[in-house]
Amino acid sequence: MKRIIYTISAALLCLSSCTTEKAFDAESQLDYCHQQVEKALAALQPYDFTQEPRNILDGQALWNCREAKAEEWCSGFWPGILWMDYASRNEEERAELGKVAAGYTEVLKPLAYQPAYDHDLGFIIINSFLKGYEQTHNEAYKTIALAAADTLATLFNPTVGTMLSWPRHVKDYGGHNTIMDNMINLELLLWAADNGGSPHLRDIAVKHAETTMENHFRPDGSCYHVAVYDTLTGDFIKGVTHQGYADWSMWSRGQSWAIYGYTMVYRYTHDKRFLDFAQKVTDIYLKRLGETSDDWVPLWDMDDPRGTDAPKDASAACVVASALLDLCQYVEVDKAETYRAAAGHMLTDLSTERYQSRDKNVAFLMHSTGHHPAGSEIDASIVYADYYYIEALLKYKK
Ligand code: GLY
Repeated sequence: MKRIIYTISAALLCLSSCTTEKAFDAESQLDYCHQQVEKALAALQPYDFTQEPRNILDGQALWNCREAKAEEWCSGFWPGILWMDYASRNEEERAELGKVAAGYTEVLKPLAYQPAYDHDLGFIIINSFLKGYEQTHNEAYKTIALAAADTLATLFNPTVGTMLSWPRHVKDYGGHNTIMDNMINLELLLWAADNGGSPHLRDIAVKHAETTMENHFRPDGSCYHVAVYDTLTGDFIKGVTHQGYADWSMWSRGQSWAIYGYTMVYRYTHDKRFLDFAQKVTDIYLKRLGETSDDWVPLWDMDDPRGTDAPKDASAACVVASALLDLCQYVEVDKAETYRAAAGHMLTDLSTERYQSRDKNVAFLMHSTGHHPAGSEIDASIVYADYYYIEALLKYKK
């Protein structure tokens, strides 16, 4: 397939010339998502809340579910999707949805009180209890999320200045490992510090973001997936990949976690260093996206030598679109328009037949890639793509 190469300035030129384009219709996409949720829920009955939807592979129509537990990092995405669908519905539709969302959320409560398995506790609790708390103001959800923040904070190593993302992989990597995905989980600590938890949680999150900013990126703003540190001295040893094409490559979802993570840390801290950095990691993503993809959805890794014949990762586009709809509110006007327009283009592409599941399966989207090097979830519907898609739709509508 012909490789389309633009520079960032060409991409920006295209963006500015598109301002007369019809606005993206988030409302009808939210209706589409609701229809897919209804189909999925019909197939999941009678509900077993201990089984959370994870993926739909090629040729399948229904969610493959996994047990709701600490080792299953995606456990919180399905309840989060239900809470966000709930947010977009009228009172009558909300009644049943709220009950089901609560069922898939509350089964995760024990994870807040048991020793942290890894950093993914943040993903699990933010997506379920925090999304549920936003909608219901249920004080029990707040208590559980606060407890989970304390549990997550036990992974912090003050000598290194980051959280240990994967305690089980310390030997494999030869030291304290921190992965870019961990940036997302700082939200649980920052939220807790603002909502009655220890102020120390905020210090941990800020230190993690600072240390990551120092060590986890190349000069151009692209990130490694995994940063390895000496556990005892805290020295940075190396940057490597786990889910990307190569240690030096741009794994699209890894970069999307960086964009979302630094935008979110700025939202909580108002520290301009994080805002500047969020723009830097975004700008290199948009530049590389323009150079490597035939639309606004990235290849799973921007350096896969197959170019546009390589599988896509719709989930990374969803994460970035959601982040940009926040970032565009914090930056000066020209940059704001660039980011807002980019998010609009991403959502527009994701809402086409090329990416939408529609009658093929009950997810919202197709063409995400989970763990390419392991041969797992390649070109699949994956629950986190849907989660960040509906999150972005709600932000766009607002
Ligand atoms: N957090 C794991 C992933 O992005 O695949």
